[in-house]
Amino acid sequence: STRTCASQTSPLPQPPPHFSSSSTRTSASYRRTRGMAPSKQYDEGGQLQLMEADRVEEEEECFESIDKLISQGINSGDVKKLQDAGIYTCNGLMMHTKKSLTGIKGLSEAKVDKICEAAEKLLSQGFMTGSDLLIKRKSVVRITTGSQTLDELLGGGIETLCITEAFGEFRSGKTQLAHTLCVSTQLPLHMHGGNGKVAYIDTEGTFRPERIVPIAERFGMDANAVLDNIIYARAYTYEHQYNLLLGLAAKMAEEPFRLLIVDSVIALFRVDFSGRGELAERQQKLAQMLSRLTKIAEEFNVAVYITNQVIADPGGGMFITDPKKPAGGHVLAHAATIRLMLRKGKGEQRVCKIFDAPNLPEGEAVFQITTGGLMDVKD
Ligand SMILES: Nc1ncnc2c1ncn2[C@@H]1O[C@H](COP(=O)(O)OP(=O)(O)O)[C@@H](O)[C@H]1O
Ligand SMILES: [Mg+2]
Repeated sequence: STRTCASQTSPLPQPPPHFSSSSTRTSASYRRTRGMAPSKQYDEGGQLQLMEADRVEEEEECFESIDKLISQGINSGDVKKLQDAGIYTCNGLMMHTKKSLTGIKGLSEAKVDKICEAAEKLLSQGFMTGSDLLIKRKSVVRITTGSQTLDELLGGGIETLCITEAFGEFRSGKTQLAHTLCVSTQLPLHMHGGNGKVAYIDTEGTFRPERIVPIAERFGMDANAVLDNIIYARAYTYEHQYNLLLGLAAKMAEEPFRLLIVDSVIALFRVDFSGRGELAERQQKLAQMLSRLTKIAEEFNVAVYITNQVIADPGGGMFITDPKKPAGGHVLAHAATIRLMLRKGKGEQRVCKIFDAPNLPEGEAVFQITTGGLMDVKD
């Protein structure tokens, strides 16, 4: 046997950031555990095993399953109706208006009142103190981009509980950042990861699982396990894109997700709606989609990373040679909490500028795109 550490009884220390992984495919049971990035350990028989790296870092679930309404006297048939409408948690329920709930087939106004009352009992809704809010903000997780310089600009990485938007021209690195985050999200918290799974909605057909492999190896993770923890869907219409989000709530209520990627959030809207005549309707539908994304971020403590295209900006000023602005107008500007502008630098270098963020100073960071994902520029 090549496994020689038979006398090992205490757990091995955590993996160094760049240890190389040569382990075989992880078992299905690993995928059901909460610890995401496996570290290698030897059991008493000397068997190499993948263990939950983050047992101590496990947080309590921050949401109440909709099933709990049954214990409050709501019948399971009505709970099923909510689930069929894409509502899987009590927190999610409270994000719907009563008007939209009575729109669900089979739920009368009286039933909706009873359901909301029951949910309120399970959650403490309404006002909280600033100190309570500070505690809630402590549940924010910041996920590394792979570049320390960029992380510093972002105050630690891509945040959960909000939407981060990256816009920029073709080949500016938006999709490469998405690929890097697919991996880094699965790192344990102490390695600046999110200790969670990833959902990827691809509207442009540019996700490449092959790209995940070298990025996983760079972080010392088992590539197959990393790929198993990414769920992927290709969307072909804006309606399809929206429906995927509804189905996602069910998955997120069951398993620990920490990142949702929509690359790109706007492309299908620009295809499915054309011309000035359809602009108002497009913006209305886009607002619905973005509101859904905000709710997912807050309901499941997930980071939402969306990419956006740039469009010509004729009003951009006569001294700017090639004025460009993000697509999506005010609707997107209001939905995205953190807006990043990416542009090309020399060679594989890219520049990220904070375009808009509530609590980040203005500034820029230079990083580079490598086979192992985003990294600091080496000088
Ligand atoms: N394996 C790789 N190694 C190094 N650079 C890569 C690799 N794959 C892609 N890139 C770089 O990423 C760029 C594309 O970035 P991408 O994120 O797809 O742009 P966007 O999504 O903004 O259009 C390419 O121009 C190339 O420079
Ligand atoms: Mg792209």
